[in-house]
Amino acid sequence: MNIINEEAIQFLDDLYRPLTDALGDLRRQAEERKIPIILKDTEALLLQLLRIRKPKYMLEIGTAVGYSACCFCQLCPDATLWTIEYQERMAKEAKKNIEALGMDHQIRLIQGDAREVLRNWPMDKKIDFAFIDGGKSHYEEFFNGLLPLCNPGAMIVSDNIFMSGKTLSERYDPRGRAKTNIRKMREYIAMLNNRTDSSTAFLPIGDGLAVTILGE
Ligand SMILES: C[S@@+](CC[C@H](N)C(=O)[O-])C[C@H]1O[C@@H](n2cnc3c(N)ncnc32)[C@H](O)[C@@H]1O
Repeated sequence: MNIINEEAIQFLDDLYRPLTDALGDLRRQAEERKIPIILKDTEALLLQLLRIRKPKYMLEIGTAVGYSACCFCQLCPDATLWTIEYQERMAKEAKKNIEALGMDHQIRLIQGDAREVLRNWPMDKKIDFAFIDGGKSHYEEFFNGLLPLCNPGAMIVSDNIFMSGKTLSERYDPRGRAKTNIRKMREYIAMLNNRTDSSTAFLPIGDGLAVTILGE
């Protein structure tokens, strides 16, 4: 959910053009089924960041049906992307979509809990772009798990840091059901903001984005 001014969102969403017709179809199907995928304005920014960075090795936490993974690889045809999804059913569906879009030579889908997968990652210092879009209460663990795998200067983008507004104000969580997640997300944001080994920009795009550059 996007909590920014509705008129601005509608205006920006109307400007959205999918990278390919097939990706447009995949977005439409996911939205119709209420599968959470990157919002349109988030996609626009991520693609611009990728155009600037031109990463060779990318890692994504949270595949869902493979939409963002396929967008990233459509834009960076020489890159390799690992994407991690813990729901078996989702991972199977993503695999099908990735094959149907002819992206299986670029995308390595790993089914499992990203915290576990990152702990057992075989390579050091290789990733130059990472996208955190998995369980909101585990962002700090994801980030810490990613650090040893990333090149100096790598970019790590964390999506949904606003958690549909809940991070910003309790009024978006009237029954207090998300208290623990809110506390964890606020701690994550403070942790990023206080780091001296990296810099982070916090942006009100989509459901809130944190764009971190390591070593700067
Ligand atoms: C917002 S969706 C990902 C959307 C996708 N990045 C896109 O934009 O097309 C989040 C996904 O993360 C998965 N997930 C949540 N926690 C996870 C974890 N600890 N490890 C791996 N996947 C996780 C969920 O099952 C869900 O499919």
